[in-house]
Amino acid sequence: MNETLRLRVNGQDFELQVRTHHTLLQVLRDQLKLFGAREGCGVGMCGACTVLLDGQAVSSCLMLAAQAADKELLTVEGLAENGRLHPIQQAYVECSGYQCSFCTPGFILTTLALLEENPHASEEEIRDYLAGNLCRCGSYVKILKSVKLAQQQMLVSKNL
Ligand code: FES
Ligand code: FES
Repeated sequence: MNETLRLRVNGQDFELQVRTHHTLLQVLRDQLKLFGAREGCGVGMCGACTVLLDGQAVSSCLMLAAQAADKELLTVEGLAENGRLHPIQQAYVECSGYQCSFCTPGFILTTLALLEENPHASEEEIRDYLAGNLCRCGSYVKILKSVKLAQQQMLVSKNL
């Protein structure tokens, strides 16, 4: 069965015909061609499919697309502005916080949710918040470095 669904993704409105049983991840990738959210485990265990829904990090593989209706969705494609990387993206680049980068969009969006919610997060709080994102390449040390650099830069830019 199909339904008409209105989604707001990266500041843009879409009206789509979607299969009622399709997940948000399927609709983002298959219909909107936004490939930043990845399908790793498909069962809520790896964080590769993370997107922000009204600022909260969610696993898009676990949600029906209809659950995102009329909410603000942010995918990694919506982070850069006017061709400039977001400070978190820049920090991951500078610290080489990735290897194959399959997990990177999920980590970057979870980092954003964390730093918006808790700008002064301690190392323990960072580790705890990112625990639901897995990196099969084991780049955790550099990912942590990236988060800390992004945190410093965001604190300076917000005068906190
Ligand atoms: S693909 Fe969604 S949590 Fe792994
Ligand atoms: S960089 Fe390869 S899975 Fe994380």
